[in-house]
Amino acid sequence: MRLSRVPSIEIKTPGQFALMREAGLVVARMLHAAAAAAEPGISTAELDAIAEREMRSAGAQSSFKGYHGYPATICTSVNDQIVHGIPDPAVRLAAGDVLSIDAGAIVGGWHGDAAVTVPVGAVPDQVTALLQACELAMWHGLAAAVAGHHLTDISHAVQTSAQASGEYGIVREYTGHFIGSAMHMDPAVPNYGRPGRGPVLAEGMALAIEPMLVLGAPHNALLDDGWTVVTADGSLAAHFEHTVAITADGPWVLTAEDGGAGGLARAGARAAAASSGARRT
Ligand code: MF3
Ligand code: CO
Repeated sequence: MRLSRVPSIEIKTPGQFALMREAGLVVARMLHAAAAAAEPGISTAELDAIAEREMRSAGAQSSFKGYHGYPATICTSVNDQIVHGIPDPAVRLAAGDVLSIDAGAIVGGWHGDAAVTVPVGAVPDQVTALLQACELAMWHGLAAAVAGHHLTDISHAVQTSAQASGEYGIVREYTGHFIGSAMHMDPAVPNYGRPGRGPVLAEGMALAIEPMLVLGAPHNALLDDGWTVVTADGSLAAHFEHTVAITADGPWVLTAEDGGAGGLARAGARAAAASSGARRT
């Protein structure tokens, strides 16, 4: 009989990590294709079709479509939409918008999940700074995804980085998550908190780290479509996400083409894949 609730975290074999890497690279290509097409005039439904084509041509399946009834392959969240915006033929991008694109893919039953936020045309410096702060906070979280650390060491790294970058709101109601044979696995990975709490991270675990920062207050609301999360005050939001594997050599960012080498270096860490990318793919 279990006397206490100890969350059991899925441990992957090297072969399973290899499939997650394949899924991660598909996600990277989906995001790259959709982001490259995110010009004024295109609809978010067209971006969904572009990402879906990329996914299908790789022989992968969608993590998102059908997930609790979600109707699309990616999430497209514009301006004050924080996450889970539904691609829509009636939503056309305009210069000055900011667009979060979130994509997931399954290869051989194993998931990858990542998101980027991109400017559409020119945006004010303050908006560029928001996007950079959010991405850097994600990289600091990824750099803390090391065997022997506690889960909330990641949370604390994300929060500390975000706060060092400026006066941004950190969304609390939505979090990162563990990932593997399913997209969303327990426990949650908060983007704030004291270090040294939660389960000890171990080799073979994988998680998605996804900070959401806003220019105003972090409070949010759910639209009537049941999915789209918006800032309560209408302020702009940013969202970045990567899936990372915890390996003996350090964090291996499965959804980054370079395994995370570039981003982790910016956060002052070293990627597992930087020295061993060839043998891992
Ligand atoms: N990547 C998203 C997240 O982890 C998942 C999108 S929810 C879906 O929050 F319904 F679109 F799948
Ligand atoms: Co996610």
